[in-house]
Amino acid sequence: MVKQVSEHYVIRKYQEDDREQCRSLWRELVERHREIYQEPTIGGEHPEDYFDKHLAKVGSDRLWVAVHNSLAVGLVGLIIEGNEAEVEPLIVSKAHRGKGIGKQLIETVISESRQMGIRILSVKPVVRNIQTIKFLYKQGFRNLGEIELFMSFSDYSWKAGPKLFGCKFNF
Ligand SMILES: CC(C)(COP(=O)(O)OP(=O)(O)OC[C@H]1O[C@@H](n2cnc3c(N)ncnc32)[C@H](O)[C@@H]1OP(=O)(O)O)[C@@H](O)C(=O)NCCC(=O)NCCS
Repeated sequence: MVKQVSEHYVIRKYQEDDREQCRSLWRELVERHREIYQEPTIGGEHPEDYFDKHLAKVGSDRLWVAVHNSLAVGLVGLIIEGNEAEVEPLIVSKAHRGKGIGKQLIETVISESRQMGIRILSVKPVVRNIQTIKFLYKQGFRNLGEIELFMSFSDYSWKAGPKLFGCKFNF
């Protein structure tokens, strides 16, 4: 499958020669989280290595890239378990954001999930990733599933956050 999404971008399945670019996209994804949390140690010294681990886990058939000038500038994947699927990862390189690429990547995994007979398609952004939550909401993710609650034993300063069912959470 190769989908021409605009004059300059196509979406297609991951290929082995996309590896270095995808490693770098994974690094960008981690860097985004470092920014969000103002925490430079997230992901360790070589966050790009997580791409290789992910690829080994899900296989190249479950990854799609947005390509610009022969370079992968966007990456989306699916983790499938039975008839449920989770979108992971989802990243568009900074210079290419706001051009409809993220939307096309999400449409790709929605359409692939439907074809595979998936019943639930989920995605798990951290609560602090507000922009991405808004983006995903716009793409049709309107149901809330699990909520991960945690205690923090470090002195990290959490922000006062959303209220749910009368409970005030930090995030
Ligand atoms: C989230 C992300 C993939 C979106 O990709 P993108 O290519 O910039 O998004 P698009 O240009 O396709 O935007 C599609 C639509 O969402 C809207 N949108 C994008 N960002 C938005 C935001 N912060 N708030 C509200 N709407 C937003 C756009 O306006 C556009 O709307 P339209 O179709 O009505 O014009 C990209 O910002 C990204 O890589 N973020 C960092 C990594 C990340 O957070 N990954 C998700 C981890 S779960």
